[in-house]
Amino acid sequence: MDAKCLVRGSINIDEYFHVKSISRPGETISSSGYECRPGGKGANQAVAIAKAGGSVDFIGIVGPNGKWLIDELRDRGVGVNKTVIVEDTTTGRAMIQVAEDGENSIVLHHAANHIELPPPTPESLRRFTHLLLQNESPLKSTTEYLCIAHELGFVTIMNPSPLPTPEQTRGFPWGKLNWLIVNEGEARDLLTSVGGSHSIDAIELVTPFEGILEHRTVVLSAHAIGSKLASHPTFKGVNIICTLGAVGLVSFVSLVRDAGRKAFYLPASKLDGPVVDTTGAGDCFTGYFVSGLMSLEQGHEEDLIGVLNTSIKAAGICVQRRGTIDSIPLRGEVSA
Ligand code: ADP
Ligand code: NA
Repeated sequence: MDAKCLVRGSINIDEYFHVKSISRPGETISSSGYECRPGGKGANQAVAIAKAGGSVDFIGIVGPNGKWLIDELRDRGVGVNKTVIVEDTTTGRAMIQVAEDGENSIVLHHAANHIELPPPTPESLRRFTHLLLQNESPLKSTTEYLCIAHELGFVTIMNPSPLPTPEQTRGFPWGKLNWLIVNEGEARDLLTSVGGSHSIDAIELVTPFEGILEHRTVVLSAHAIGSKLASHPTFKGVNIICTLGAVGLVSFVSLVRDAGRKAFYLPASKLDGPVVDTTGAGDCFTGYFVSGLMSLEQGHEEDLIGVLNTSIKAAGICVQRRGTIDSIPLRGEVSA
C-alpha cells in the first residue's frame, strides 16, 4: 500500500500586526502592517508534508469563517475531505504582535480547535499508514487517534507542542508512539513531568567528536536530557528527536528494526543569508521528516540520517523566508 499520512490537529486564522514595540497594559498602539494567513501546528505540518511530496489528509475543525483556510490547504496539496465545518462556532485564531526587534506576543483563541470529534473508526482510517499529532487539539481526541492508529499498526509520530500538563503527561500513552519530536525545553519539561531518574542506561553518542565541537555545551546537555528521556520506562522503544534551533538536533533512534537506539548529533544547515523569520521552522522540519519516513524502507542506515539531514535543510530554508506555511520550501527547492 502507498504511504499516506493523517494529521489530526489544529487550524487557525493567524493575524499578524507589525508594531514598533509590544503593547503595554492600558496602551493603544497602531500597527504599521497587517497580514492574515492560515496557521495552527496541525495545518502547518500537513502543508509541510504535502510540499515535501508526501500524500496527506488533514482532519481538524473550523467555523463558517474558516472555509477559506480549507481552500488554502487544498490549494497546497493537502486532502481536506475529513476537515469539519461546525456552524455556531468560530475558527481558532492567533493574534500576533511582531515588534521591530523581532520580539513577538501571541494571544491564541482555540475556539473550534477545542471541539471534540467522535473517535475514529478503524474503517475510516483504512487508507492511512502514518499518523501525525501535535497538542493543539483536545488531548482526549489525540489519545483516541493514537490508540487506534497504534492498534492498526500505523507509524505514529507526535510533536507534543504545547506540552500537556504534568498530570496529563503522566496519563498519556507515550509508548504507543514510534516517533517523538520535541525541542530542548520540551524535552526538559517532559522529563520533569515523568519524574525522570538520573540513572542513565548509557546511550552512546556516535557522532564523530569534531562534529560537535562548535556547540559542545548545548549538544552534550541535550544528549544528557534526551538519554534520560529515552531510557525512561515511559518512552521505552520510542524514537526521540530533540531539535536545538540553530544548533541542529540530537536524535535517539533505532536505525534498524528491533535494534537498540543510538544517539546522533546533526548540525543545523549553514545558512547563505540572514535569519529572517523562524516561525514555522519546527513545523517544516516535522513535515519533511514525516514525508521522509513515509518513503523510507526499514533497515537502511544511510536513509534515516539522510531523511533527518533533508529535513534540517528544509528548515534552514524556512528560517530565511518570511511567513509560516509559505516559507516552507518545495521538495525541488531543497534538493537544488
Ligand atoms: P521549534 O520551533 O519546534 O522550537 P527548533 O527551533 O528547534 O524547533 O527548530 C527546528 C529545526 O529548524 C532545527 O533543528 C534546525 O534544523 C532548524 N532551525 C531552527 N532555527 C534555525 C536557525 N536559526 N538556523 C538554522 N536552522 C534552524
Ligand atoms: Na519562516
